[in-house]
Amino acid sequence: MNRPQDERMGSILRSGMVLLKKYLSTDDQVKIVRLCRDLGVGPGGFYRPGYRDGAKLHLMMMCLGKNWDPETGKYGDCRSIDDAKPPRVPDELSCFVAKAIKDSHGVILRNNKQKEVNEILPPMTPNICIVNFYSETGKLGLHQDCDESEESLRRGLPVVSFSIGDTAEFLYGSQRDISIAERVMLESGDVLIFGGKSRHIFHGVSSIVKGSAPLSLLDEPKLRPGRLNLTFREY
Ligand code: SIN
Ligand code: MN
Repeated sequence: MNRPQDERMGSILRSGMVLLKKYLSTDDQVKIVRLCRDLGVGPGGFYRPGYRDGAKLHLMMMCLGKNWDPETGKYGDCRSIDDAKPPRVPDELSCFVAKAIKDSHGVILRNNKQKEVNEILPPMTPNICIVNFYSETGKLGLHQDCDESEESLRRGLPVVSFSIGDTAEFLYGSQRDISIAERVMLESGDVLIFGGKSRHIFHGVSSIVKGSAPLSLLDEPKLRPGRLNLTFREY
């Protein structure tokens, strides 16, 4: 049976926060894994980042467009560990992002019958992307994404997040408090967008569901056990 149109297209989690379930096709997910795999072994590719206090993040990271440094919380042109310049955000990925924002506007319009979708979820053109790979024990504490330019944050330009591979338990809320955070499972192919009034939500990944990735991603393009997450932003 076909699911209702709006459920199939996506749902609004809060103002400016839209979840597009199973949005990326298997072919597109395969393309994205291949792209990340190729970029990930080149200059500026995946590494295990750390915070200022020396603690390591529970994930591997690669930046595109600009380097985000978890030690300083700042973006720069090169990363300090090896002076590598991050690769550009590939045009193919920017096209997926543009389409996801357009379709999110459709979801907002259908649910609210409001015309000011560009205020609720401002459009953006991604020039930076943080690619995280979580192994089956990976996680990420509650935090806000607030290191982009003042202008980008002021305008509420959205973060667009692609999930590929194993499912993640994703937490989000208005405060940095896991006991009151809301939870949503992000499965392979899901796209989550948070901008406008939701741009400053606290969010994080509490756990990865072992062995939940689609088999089609494991044979070829040989995704390792775990979860790939890409968060696109406009600096
Ligand atoms: C992030 O907040 O940087 C990543 C979120 C996720 O992995 O879903
Ligand atoms: Mn984040």
